[in-house]
Amino acid sequence: MRHILYGGDYNPEQWLDRPEILEQDLDYMIKAHINTVTLGMFSWAALEPEEGEYHLEWMENIVNRLYEHGISTILGTPSGARPKWMSDKYPEVLRVNENRVRNLFGGRHNHCYTSPIYREKIRGINTKLAKRFGGNPGVVLLHISNEYGGECHCPLCQEAFRMWLKDRYTTIENLNKAWWTTFWSHTYLSFDQIESPSSMGETALHGLNLDWKRFVTAQTADFTLHEIRSLREGGAEQPTTVNLMYDYAGLNYDKLAECVDIISWDTYPVWHKKEDILTARDNGLQHDYMRSLKHQPFLLMESCPSSTNWQGVSKLKRPGLLSAASFQALAHGSDSVLYFQIRQSRGASEKFHGAVIDHSGRDDTRVFQEVTQLGDGLSRLSEIVGSKVNASAALIYDVENRWAMEDSQGPRNDGLFYHEAVVKSYQALRRQGLDVDVISEQQDISSYRLVIAPMLYLFREGIEEKIRRFVESGGHFVMTYWSGIVNSTDLCYLGGTPHGLQDVFGLERTETDGLYDGEVNRLIPSENSGLSKEYECRNLCDLLKVGTAEPLLHYGREFYQGTPAVTKNRYKGGTAYYIGADAEQQFYDEFYQVITNEIGMKSLIAGKIPEDIEVTSRNTEKFRYYFIQNYKNEMVDISCMNLTGEVIHGDNKEELAAYGTVIVREEV
Ligand code: GLA
Ligand code: ZN
Repeated sequence: MRHILYGGDYNPEQWLDRPEILEQDLDYMIKAHINTVTLGMFSWAALEPEEGEYHLEWMENIVNRLYEHGISTILGTPSGARPKWMSDKYPEVLRVNENRVRNLFGGRHNHCYTSPIYREKIRGINTKLAKRFGGNPGVVLLHISNEYGGECHCPLCQEAFRMWLKDRYTTIENLNKAWWTTFWSHTYLSFDQIESPSSMGETALHGLNLDWKRFVTAQTADFTLHEIRSLREGGAEQPTTVNLMYDYAGLNYDKLAECVDIISWDTYPVWHKKEDILTARDNGLQHDYMRSLKHQPFLLMESCPSSTNWQGVSKLKRPGLLSAASFQALAHGSDSVLYFQIRQSRGASEKFHGAVIDHSGRDDTRVFQEVTQLGDGLSRLSEIVGSKVNASAALIYDVENRWAMEDSQGPRNDGLFYHEAVVKSYQALRRQGLDVDVISEQQDISSYRLVIAPMLYLFREGIEEKIRRFVESGGHFVMTYWSGIVNSTDLCYLGGTPHGLQDVFGLERTETDGLYDGEVNRLIPSENSGLSKEYECRNLCDLLKVGTAEPLLHYGREFYQGTPAVTKNRYKGGTAYYIGADAEQQFYDEFYQVITNEIGMKSLIAGKIPEDIEVTSRNTEKFRYYFIQNYKNEMVDISCMNLTGEVIHGDNKEELAAYGTVIVREEV
């Protein structure tokens, strides 16, 4: 790619009987500097109106016409929603819910990933699309399905699950042990007896629940590969992507990432509900997570030019916010800004969802003007395409860990706040002006200086060795309460926790206290902590028996008052910090400042970062690009940041308008 992709989802199949509308779309796209559209994801009924009868010519005309005007196409495969004839003739393509009831036709994502017939049907249309568009210079990327998600409990899926389990455990005895099935006499005699979890049946075996989720991911990945194979069979050689979702816990995205060439995702933050900088940080974390799946530039595949219509309240974006949110994607490593959608639907469930072109059909709307202005700005920033983020800090946010922790009963069924815990650490690092990778337990950590693992309840195979080696060789590792408790099938470790790392952290967790909603304990700093204030903590407090670790803060209340709550242990070349309780944000901000000072990790910029300002960077061999963004709805003086280098976007380095972005380039 030579320029930033700008445009979005386009659904011309809804307007084929209105050629004047399609003409106007093209005019407006050109006006708005749009250079890319995504086509076809929901066009199956228009592409194959009856079984085996294909009509691809309308789409080819549109792809070609767009291309003549400099607009490329991302070609979607249509598996996310299917024509009625298919479910009427082949009911097995429809999904079955956990109560073993088959859905009726309707909605989308309503299909079985296992069904051989569904696979054959998607292979049919995908090979046809590939034959027609594989050699078309207008088609630059293959977009596989749409937001894969959900699960199917049909007999075909049950059988596939049993096969998957057989493959994993070989014998039923191994499985019984791994799932601890002697509990409540749930022992299986053979693989044939196993069924997916259901609220009507089994939910108490946490190993079963976890493996089912792993299977759903494996089956979705297998379906993705099947789709890609069909496209390759038809001769399409363009790179592939899947569009992922915000904080989605239904799939392990690591596995989907392995199937495709490029990561893309759809972002719909709820703006203006809390301070915008907090929303931006939470969304920034997701950008960083998506980028870290492949450590390559990703694509922002969908975002809304005004407001969605599926959130609780359809809040409009204040002037300037669209630009800030779009630049945030670039700032975190995206090479695109794409919208859902180019033209607003006239009917059905998304008719009030924001779009570049709304029902008025005018090009002087506030939204269209902002989209156009942004498109103009982006068209001058081609040089950042392909640049990378080099983070020296990483945060572990692991979905298998989340599955297990949120499913297991205790120590706080009223909320564990895993996501929030990750966000707190993330914010603290960002406030210091550090770029951050957000990675799973599976990834290599050896290249980072600082790695933070909030609530690492489930230790996936080998993680404790990885952490030990990291600290041994000079790394600095922070782990929090409720970590190292269970293995990969959710069996509790025997012999004390954090499992396998008690010498590295110099302590043992003996018990964990769950606090009621609203209940507060206090963290009191010792003199050696580098901190002077007291902090609040809530929800969970680990009780620690300290060995070689140095206590830095202790509890201020309860029967464990005066016992260590936060510790530091030098272990061989590095340091292992343990945060024993769910502390307030300010603690993380100040504690991480102490750590980074101590280990000499420097902020991206020399000066001070004002509140509400986000700083990130991208790098090429020659340049470093600093993105400075203002998430305040008013002008902010940024002269204290002492920025050097050349401004390549925005006005100046001294003040930043409301929701403004400045990009500064420096030679490296
Ligand atoms: C998702 C889907 C789109 C559209 C948008 C609306 O991201 O992928 O097809 O439904 O939501 O916000
Ligand atoms: Zn199924």
